[in-house]
Amino acid sequence: MRYAIITDHVVLNLYGERIYRQYKNEGKDVALLSFPAGEAFKTRSVKENLENQLLSLGYIRDTTIVALGGGVVIDLVGFLASTFCRGVPLILMPTTVVGMVDASIGGKTGVNGPGGKNMIGTFYNAAQTVIDYNFLHTLPEKEWFNGRVEMLKAALVWDRDFFENFSTFSDFQAIQRSRTIKEAIVSQDPYDRGVRRLLNLGHTFAHALEVLSHYRISHGEAVAFGVVFDARISYEMGVLSKDDFSQIQNVFPPIFLDFSCEEMLQKMRLDKKNSNNLLHCILLQKIGLATQSVVPENVIKRVLDDTRLCAGKNIQVG
Ligand SMILES: NC(=O)c1ccc[n+]([C@@H]2O[C@H](COP(=O)([O-])OP(=O)(O)OC[C@H]3O[C@@H](n4cnc5c(N)ncnc54)[C@H](O)[C@@H]3O)[C@@H](O)[C@H]2O)c1
Ligand SMILES: [Zn+2]
Repeated sequence: MRYAIITDHVVLNLYGERIYRQYKNEGKDVALLSFPAGEAFKTRSVKENLENQLLSLGYIRDTTIVALGGGVVIDLVGFLASTFCRGVPLILMPTTVVGMVDASIGGKTGVNGPGGKNMIGTFYNAAQTVIDYNFLHTLPEKEWFNGRVEMLKAALVWDRDFFENFSTFSDFQAIQRSRTIKEAIVSQDPYDRGVRRLLNLGHTFAHALEVLSHYRISHGEAVAFGVVFDARISYEMGVLSKDDFSQIQNVFPPIFLDFSCEEMLQKMRLDKKNSNNLLHCILLQKIGLATQSVVPENVIKRVLDDTRLCAGKNIQVG
């Protein structure tokens, strides 16, 4: 068996040599490949370039691919492993919180297309996932923030106790608990046809915000806003109690948005199929219990209007 470790340039500088040596010291035939860091490089052409490098190094079916990095590396390299010689074994070594609690669980792989994120990809499960918290010592605070927001979002849809006691969990306990939540959800719905979609809480709003801000607002920030937005919709629809809504707002305080409601609505319409002025949303029935539902556009508009009136962009998570 030959091994190919694939990572991005940031993780290469931090951990590439160490992991490469680890494989070498075990007597393994191994190569180390990399590509530039960031969402902008999660593309077909980067994947193709890596495939060409593997082929020119003589890699064939007896290859195991090791994805070392955050969600971008996991998605792209997972996709590569799923198509290289019709699929070769994949080992995941997530190095970000998002990688550990989200991208490394459930087998979704992919790259971005001209029309949007993750448009081209496969479902492909890893043969092995290595969780090593030591990677997180170098993780910048903003990446921790992104990770905490996704952990809280998972808690909101599935695990009330975790949400309410989030601050009492150590980072590592929280990561462990979040992994358990995602594993439970994807085991019920591996192909994202039902319950797994609940993990999209806050994400329709978040994607609209990311696009309108030209990605100046990070994914984690956008999801934090999106979660409050969906909670507010749930409250307005009479599904979520005022108490639970307030609890959520206390974790993700209100924001001021500098976009017109019509712009936001247009982008949100693109994200989810809409028919007869209804948008598909994830609603919260209570903290720890979510459901899918259609929501009339006039409710969305009203909440968008109100959201824009809230001042003070100050998110404190964890
Ligand atoms: N497949 C899935 O189910 C799934 C789930 C969630 C997210 N994702 C995808 O994951 C991506 C986001 O993942 P992410 O938040 O990990 O972003 P990322 O992979 O871009 O990593 C963020 C930044 O941190 C750097 N980095 C990684 N590990 C580091 C470390 N240990 N120390 C210092 N810096 C480090 C990276 O080089 C990068 O610059 C998105 O593309 C998203 O679509 C996929
Ligand atoms: Zn997300």
